Order: sequence, then C-alpha cells, then structure tokens
Amino acid sequence: MAARLFALAFVLLAATTPLHAVEVADPNVKVDTAGLAAIAGDPAGNPYRGNARAAEIGRAAFNQACARCHGVDALNKGQVGPDLTKMDRACRRITDPAVQRLCVEDNDDFFLKSVQQGKVRVGVVHMPAWQDVLSPAAIWTLRTFLETRRGQ
Ligand code: HEC
Repeated sequence: MAARLFALAFVLLAATTPLHAVEVADPNVKVDTAGLAAIAGDPAGNPYRGNARAAEIGRAAFNQACARCHGVDALNKGQVGPDLTKMDRACRRITDPAVQRLCVEDNDDFFLKSVQQGKVRVGVVHMPAWQDVLSPAAIWTLRTFLETRRGQ
C-alpha cells in the first residue's frame, strides 16, 4: 500500500513539474545606445539601417543576449533558435523596390515584436520576452547587426 501511494505521489509530482526550465531574459544585459541618434516616435522600419556604429553596438548586444540560442555572431551552429541571417531572404527576391521596402519593413515589425514579446507556444517559453531589458533602440541595433550578416 505504502509503495503504491509513493508511486502515485511520484506520478503526481512528475506531472506538475515543468519539463522545460522557464526561460527568462538575462536582466544583466546592458546595451549603451547613447552615441546613436534618439528614435522619435514609433518608426515604420529600422531607423538605424546601414548605420555602422549601430551594427557594432548590436553585435556586442547580440553576443550577450542572443548568441546562446542563435549562435555567436549569428552563425548558427546547431543552437535551438532559427538562423536569423535568413530573415529577409524572401524580400531580397522581390524586384520592385517599393514592394521590397514594404517587405523589409514588415520584417522589421515582426523582429521588434518577436524580441519584445518572445516566443511562447502552448505554454512553453521557447524564447523569453526582452521588453523589460532591451529598449526599442537596443533592439534596432540587433536588427542592424543582423543585416550585416546576410548571406553568411
Ligand atoms: C532561450 C533561447 C533564446 C534566446 C536567449 C533568444 N532566442 Fe530568439 N528564438 C528562440 C527560438 C527557439 C525561436 C523560435 C521560436 C518559435 O518560432 O516558436 C526564436 C525566434 C526568434 C525570432 C523569430 C525568427 C523567425 O524567423 O521566426 C527572432 C527575430 C528572434 N528569435 C530574435 C532573438 C534575439 C534578437 C534575441 C536576443 C535579444 C533572441 N532571439 C534570444 C530562442 C531564443
């Protein structure tokens, strides 16, 4: 009887213990965007696109915050997260410049929201939300860095 109760307790414990550790955004990540132009309002796309200083800041930030799941310097070597250098691949095939711009801006928006809100599927945190740790400016530096890694 005692053994059966013990077995039952074990089953209940196993059922209520999460299989995955809860992922949280590392609160120690610090990104200094002071040298960059301040962002006015809510821009339609990445306000730092092509800005070399932003890309440099973004690279350091990426390696602090994102590399463990998306690879050092965004070189994915079997890490759990998708290869972020391929995000704009479909847009690059669009020949009409105006449509291509819209495609990239749509990805900008998806990128910002993905990083701010993280990725939670059926209650499992695949990627933590970064909105309490990273400012929009910091997130745009990450996107600017990733744009320099295209095709690598
Ligand atoms: C704990 C691991 C983990 C960390 C840390 C992490 N990610 Fe992710 N990320 C993932 C996983 C896993 C997915 C895919 C989740 C899904 O689609 O359900 C993902 C998806 C994404 C996506 C969506 C990509 C797409 O094409 O769908 C973006 C953008 C992204 N991550 C950016 C970042 C950035 C930038 C950072 C650093 C601030 C970061 N991630 C930190 C694990 C992580």
